[in-house]
Amino acid sequence: MCGIVGYIGVKPVKKILIDGLRELEYRGYDSAGIAILQEGHFSLFKAVGKLINLEEKAKNYESSGFSVGIGHTRWATHGKPTELNAHPHLGQNSYVVHNGIIENYQELKTMLVGHGIHFLSQTDTEVIVHLFEYLLKSAATPFDAFKQTLAQIKGAYAILLVNADAEGTIFFAKHGSPMIIGRNHDNETFFGSSDAALIGKCHEVIYLEDGHYGYASSGAIALFDEQNREVALRFTALSENKLSAQKEGYRFFMEKEIYEQSTVLSDTLMGRLRDESIYFEELETTLFDGINEIKLCACGTSYHAALVASYLFERHSKIRTSVEIASEFRYREPFLTPDTLFVVISQSGETADTLESLKMAKKFGLKTMVICNVDNSSMVRLADASILTRAGIEKGVASTKAFATQVCVLWMLSLYLAGERKTLSSSDIQHQITLLRSLPATVSVDDAIHEQLRRLSKRYLHGHGFFFIGRDVFYPLALEGALKLKEISYLHAEGYPSGEMKHGPIALADPELFTIALLPQHMLYDKTKSNIEELSARDSTICSISPLDFDKADDHICTKNAEDYMLEFFEMMVVLQLLSMEIAIRLGNDVDMPRNLAKSVTVE
Ligand code: F6R
Repeated sequence: MCGIVGYIGVKPVKKILIDGLRELEYRGYDSAGIAILQEGHFSLFKAVGKLINLEEKAKNYESSGFSVGIGHTRWATHGKPTELNAHPHLGQNSYVVHNGIIENYQELKTMLVGHGIHFLSQTDTEVIVHLFEYLLKSAATPFDAFKQTLAQIKGAYAILLVNADAEGTIFFAKHGSPMIIGRNHDNETFFGSSDAALIGKCHEVIYLEDGHYGYASSGAIALFDEQNREVALRFTALSENKLSAQKEGYRFFMEKEIYEQSTVLSDTLMGRLRDESIYFEELETTLFDGINEIKLCACGTSYHAALVASYLFERHSKIRTSVEIASEFRYREPFLTPDTLFVVISQSGETADTLESLKMAKKFGLKTMVICNVDNSSMVRLADASILTRAGIEKGVASTKAFATQVCVLWMLSLYLAGERKTLSSSDIQHQITLLRSLPATVSVDDAIHEQLRRLSKRYLHGHGFFFIGRDVFYPLALEGALKLKEISYLHAEGYPSGEMKHGPIALADPELFTIALLPQHMLYDKTKSNIEELSARDSTICSISPLDFDKADDHICTKNAEDYMLEFFEMMVVLQLLSMEIAIRLGNDVDMPRNLAKSVTVE
């Protein structure tokens, strides 16, 4: 997602900012910009697309001597990826870059427009710079105006702001989005939204905490907390290894990506939840006109997300829904009717079988849509409509946060459609929206459970296989749990609907068969419990995952008492991801690059 850099010093500022942004490229972006203040004069460069376009725009700019600069890579959320919407955003005399979301921007914008202030972009960020300048008219100093600005904005943010009256200074603030300040022996100060942008430039950094704000100028930093008390500067040494810095202290990218799910789900939800409805800026209102059926098509983990969606679409939107494995769909002469919306789901947007299925559906004249994590990918360019999942770049080959965001988008889409088709009351939709709002907290990793899984993993290294079982949406989650374990541990694992065990698979039950049982409180609890008891009676080793105690289990992972099965789904998803990762780590495998697998499967 978005990235921020900042610099105060005497070296060539343009190069420093663009190099810093390049280190953040892995997060994904669709436009970029830099603003430089030197000798009272601002220079601004913005470009859509890759950093090379920004370099081209700024190719004639040269600086000499002291300057201050801020830069940003933007992944569009409010407003399309255009130059006007790219950061830095400007006022009369100031520039701002921002990650996160300003929740009350609409209300502030109305107030500022009422005072005759003209807005250029569709972003929430622009409100910050205009509010700052509006408050500056009556504030004692630019820093006072900055403090007053922070007091009025609500939401999540990391902000850098420069103002010509406070030359040589960068104002900064962090609340809910990461921000780091670094310094070196050459009296230079750097900012970055990830330390990856600072490696090799700084020897020590401060990781700001929520509520921290302040200002930095040549060689001096003043830092304050939420209660406006000055905070002592606590620097920590910065690693010199880029790869390990990008892992931000986690052992593997997969682990980092599991922990990141809370943040990326906030990004997925951003701007899409209204009080009683779901809003997708990217969808034409006529998309579902004449549509009576949805066909979902995908591979692997994305196929599992599609299966989850099939339950939600039929339950919430009362629309006939079918799910296809792309490699099968392509060759089986499917019967398609023009009232079908064909939806492909793909993290990469490049998977060959899914892409070909999309082409086929288009050839049949169907309306098409893609749910994808990569803007400008082949599928996004081809489909009639697209929704981006905003997971940021996923480096671990085993998909985690991409799956979480796919399910989240599909859940929202089922409610969007329920609103269009009037199949759920507005109070039901409102309730579902409240649940969606609690997703980021639901997936935030519980340290005690992670520790329990780390210890437990040693008991699940051998045996002759794993059954992952569940009902309803927990069945595709069981499939996904089994796939995760297979991919990175190389152990044999299968996912089953729990009611299906007695139709054959239970023949395998013995103490060396490990059953990972998903036992949610709010979805067919008693039915699933009986199925697990049947396996337990045949001596299978049972690891149950449930908020309720289960005395027939050999191991029990106690999840939270969530108020709805979908929240239980997301919490159990995290447990399954961590369990397979801990087993794979104990087996000594390369979790991020498992044998025989590729991140993007562009061959059939
Ligand atoms: C599993 C995994 C794969 C992908 C599959 C489809 O962890 O990542 O199963 O889900 O190859 O890839 P996309 O979603 O890019 O189409």
